[in-house]
Amino acid sequence: MYPIIRNRRLRASESIRRLVRETIITPDDFLVPLFVVEGKNVKEEIPSMPNYFRYSLDNLEKEVKELWKMGLCSVLLFVKVPDNLKDNKGTEAINPEGLMQRAIKTIKNAVPEMLVMTDVALDPYSSYGHDGVVTDGQILNDESVEILTEMGLSHAQAGADFLAPSDMMDGRILSMREALEDEGFFNTGIMSYSAKYASAFYGPFRDALDSAPVDIKDVPKDKKTYQMDFANRFEAIRETQLDIDEGADIVMVKPGLAYLDIVREIRNEVEVPVAVYQVSGEYAMVKAAAEKGWLDHDAVMMEQLLAIKRAGANIIASYFAKDVIRLIN
Ligand code: PBG
Repeated sequence: MYPIIRNRRLRASESIRRLVRETIITPDDFLVPLFVVEGKNVKEEIPSMPNYFRYSLDNLEKEVKELWKMGLCSVLLFVKVPDNLKDNKGTEAINPEGLMQRAIKTIKNAVPEMLVMTDVALDPYSSYGHDGVVTDGQILNDESVEILTEMGLSHAQAGADFLAPSDMMDGRILSMREALEDEGFFNTGIMSYSAKYASAFYGPFRDALDSAPVDIKDVPKDKKTYQMDFANRFEAIRETQLDIDEGADIVMVKPGLAYLDIVREIRNEVEVPVAVYQVSGEYAMVKAAAEKGWLDHDAVMMEQLLAIKRAGANIIASYFAKDVIRLIN
């Protein structure tokens, strides 16, 4: 007796595999994170993120034009703030002439159609490296939400298309949505980091922005009182549902690869677009193993990105975006 059903028929050649393939990666899938610094003609490589750079505004303009030519049409902005401008309340975050606000304008002047999303969180601006205001060892929620809301509004005023709050304070989506509506920014969207876990995979990112929580007395050294416990699943659904109820247009799961069960569950649960952030540590692991000759860089990169999409991601924030486009072309 031979098998009558032979699944291998659908794998027999590259042509049939292409015909029946369920998931593909295209330039439209990507949201490109960009790191911005003060200065002129700066393009500095981030040591723990090989071939990824911080750009001053002049080089940011060049980079964005290049991304646009490559078919990448959405960016997610982060800024590295000089130490002398940091304080507990992240005051610099709402400076209308701050680096983020200038970066938004630079991009919108250079490539008006480029979709600009901005990180809304205090950590790059905080002298303590936290996403909120620190008092007596606590990260204050409501006080932080007030500042984050002002920060988001100032990004909208500078021309941001979408705010991307990555702080995980309670109630910040509702507060931001109401402020945007009150000020007439009806079309400014919110992509909420809804299920953001307290992950060790963010290490290289904190190097990139020099934004890690500091080690001093009475300041928590981790973000576990606001970012989620990675042992939890129901909590991710609850957080995501709540953000949608508060007005989020897009929700996000973060990190990616180790959280694909959560991605699938949320994709099944909600009706809004779901983004996944393939974070700095995921990028660094592939680069490091490839440098050692232990893994095939391009093959592993594509396998991971495809897995993220197969799990249900509609949008992928990834440091690999340009690598992928080069490979596809
Ligand atoms: C800051 C923020 C972080 C990341 C995105 N926004 C770091 C953190 O929460 O400590 C991580 C991104 C990455 O690792 O690539 N709120």
